[in-house]
Amino acid sequence: MIIKTVAATLLAIAASSIFLLFSPTPKSFYHSLFISSSLSDNASISNHLHTLTRRPHVAGQEANAEAAAYVLSIFTSSSIKTHIAPYPVALTYPVSRSLTLTPSPQEPQSQINFNLQQEIYGGDPYADVAHEVLPTFHAFAKSGTVTAPVVYVNYGRLEDYEVLKQMGVNVSGSIVLARYGKIYRGSIVQTAYEAGAVGVLVYTDRKDYGGGGGEGKWFPDGKWLPPSGVQVGTVYNGVGDPTTPGWASSEEGERLSDDEVEKAGDVPLIPSLPVSAADGETILRAIGGQLANDDWQGSEDAPTYRVGPGPGIVHLSYTGKQVIGTIENVIGVIEGTEEPDRFVILGNHRDAWTFGAVDPNSGTAALLEIAQRLGKLQKRGWKPRRTIVLCNWDAEEYGLIGSTEWVEENRQMLASRAIAYLNVNSAVYGPGFSASATPQLDELLKQATQQVQDPDNSSQTLYQSWVGSCSSPMIDRLGSGESDFAAFVQHVGIPAADMAFGKGYPVYHSMYDDFIWMQKFGDPMFQRHVAVASLWGLVALWLADAEFLPFNYLSYALELQRHMKDLEDELPDKNINLAPLFKSIEELKKAATKINSQREEIEQHKGWQFIGKNDHFKVRELNDRLMMAERAFTDQDGLLGRSWYKHLIYGPSKHDDYGSKSFPGIGEAIEKAKSLKTTESWELVQHEVWRVARAVRHASQIINGELT
Ligand SMILES: *[C@@H]1O[C@H](CO)[C@@H](O)[C@H](O)[C@H]1NC(C)=O
Ligand SMILES: *[C@@H]1O[C@H](CO)[C@@H](O)[C@H](O)[C@H]1NC(C)=O
Ligand SMILES: *[C@@H]1O[C@H](CO)[C@@H](O)[C@H](O)[C@H]1NC(C)=O
Repeated sequence: MIIKTVAATLLAIAASSIFLLFSPTPKSFYHSLFISSSLSDNASISNHLHTLTRRPHVAGQEANAEAAAYVLSIFTSSSIKTHIAPYPVALTYPVSRSLTLTPSPQEPQSQINFNLQQEIYGGDPYADVAHEVLPTFHAFAKSGTVTAPVVYVNYGRLEDYEVLKQMGVNVSGSIVLARYGKIYRGSIVQTAYEAGAVGVLVYTDRKDYGGGGGEGKWFPDGKWLPPSGVQVGTVYNGVGDPTTPGWASSEEGERLSDDEVEKAGDVPLIPSLPVSAADGETILRAIGGQLANDDWQGSEDAPTYRVGPGPGIVHLSYTGKQVIGTIENVIGVIEGTEEPDRFVILGNHRDAWTFGAVDPNSGTAALLEIAQRLGKLQKRGWKPRRTIVLCNWDAEEYGLIGSTEWVEENRQMLASRAIAYLNVNSAVYGPGFSASATPQLDELLKQATQQVQDPDNSSQTLYQSWVGSCSSPMIDRLGSGESDFAAFVQHVGIPAADMAFGKGYPVYHSMYDDFIWMQKFGDPMFQRHVAVASLWGLVALWLADAEFLPFNYLSYALELQRHMKDLEDELPDKNINLAPLFKSIEELKKAATKINSQREEIEQHKGWQFIGKNDHFKVRELNDRLMMAERAFTDQDGLLGRSWYKHLIYGPSKHDDYGSKSFPGIGEAIEKAKSLKTTESWELVQHEVWRVARAVRHASQIINGELT
């Protein structure tokens, strides 16, 4: 017995030395090369951005097809097999708009007609293509004409309407004026509709977007939004093509009628328009009534804001046209050599409301840089273990349409083969790194940022600047509908991450989001772009090449425990039994610890033995458990009344699509129960707790890999 073992060991040592002699360049060599300065090129990234943003390129328009062709050509010339995945989808464009204000009904001659134009500044290099910028509008806004007194509703949140109610202000029948900045604009319109408003105007307060206002502050002299600047955007509250909810749209396929779309409840039923800071202020001057609270006021030198209603009367008219237009996702594939049926997916969208230098093409430029660096690695002999898929989405701005249609079309394939989805909506909004992820990727992000240099301080790593003075970086979660990760995480349950420099930026979705703004204020040296390309690509390489998937479900369990604490705070003294959920999280912790040690065992064992077929199966089997665990958090019935959202741990707030909620179903049930105060409604809360507990138990079962 002993002799046999010694012989086997000697044989193994001999075999592994022979193996070493012929062993290929280690993957880690290529990973270091990928982030090295020899492969990084800020000038090339800057060129990509410049090319992509020559013209405004809204989804469905020729200029965006041109941009798609550019992406395709860069992928292809980097030896990446690339194709276009087109979809015919519902898109809307503005046809006519008019907005007038009668400050005082007694003096109809005082009427003001707003011109609704964003001003071209002297010396603007994009002046000759400025006419291609769409007239300011809200995509999927309801066409219609309304005339009514105005009420000022602050940021248009549910809590703002609560304040108005307490003040005795009834917004029913009025047009509301809300300011941008705290919640998703589609949620602003929806909340106004539910409060009984007949129309909505949304403006950018110069306190929030104008740096307080004043010459020299705004673009092109400063980074802030000029007084005439307008934030356009969609007000659709669903995900994907509204005429094909839950399935991929196709030429001959099933499509809902306009009536059916309205009934589904995700398109607005009252007209709305975005307006500039200057126009918003003019309207505010015509609102009398009670004084608005201090935190509802504007800049120091702004007029005093009152809530109304009236006396100012607004006449709002909007006509949009809905078309079925073709959008184009560009998909590049580098096939894995050992596990071609496992996908690591990177994604960023291409379509922009205007020039899109920040949103989204700073991300596209970084994606193109990654493609080129991977092309160079391939030339030097690197091939990924697993398949890497580079995706450049279309029509994200309309409601995450390109990514959602693709995910819906490939749902089963992705559910059985996708390792992770890595999203970059925009690479650079400004300074300061930030990231979001599903929690099993937390450790991976921390480790990868330790390999990348901080672009703003060469004597520290990105990790050091990210952490700052805290002990651990802040990682947000991916429950919101803010970008293309939504379908991957919330519909299919794929581990995902999202990263960028900066968060908001003042010229967001205005015609000033151009290359000049980026060059002057966003990233003058394009080194932040380089850092995003390095990090994004490195995380993808680790996921694609590592023998064992670098997932840690212990972080997930700990995060769930933190979410539990929040949940307990939300619960009043009601008879809700949280024990099943507590217990399921404890089980997840145990399962995560167990799989981590199983992995160590296989690794140690392998050090002494032939790398036999059996070991490959063992590794693959363990990786499959890690891959599938996130899927277990999804439930086929989805969230109550929002069945597209399958994930029971992370989903969007019902009152703010940009707000990520943990345990969204439980939270929503609690909110309902608090207002209905019935036994049944509290029973529903208990039911939701059970559902989540079952999902968490399923995740443990998958991680354990044992039948009951
Ligand atoms: C607000 O006004 C509408 C229409 O005038 C009315 O139906 C509604 O009951 C009012 N709401 C409150 C809370 O007074
Ligand atoms: C750059 O990083 C080093 C090391 O963390 C730190 O000591 C220094 O203060 C940083 N410099 C600036 C300008 O932030
Ligand atoms: C690239 O970075 C270098 C040094 O950091 C800088 O001098 C150069 O201007 C940058 N290039 C571009 C196009 O920003």
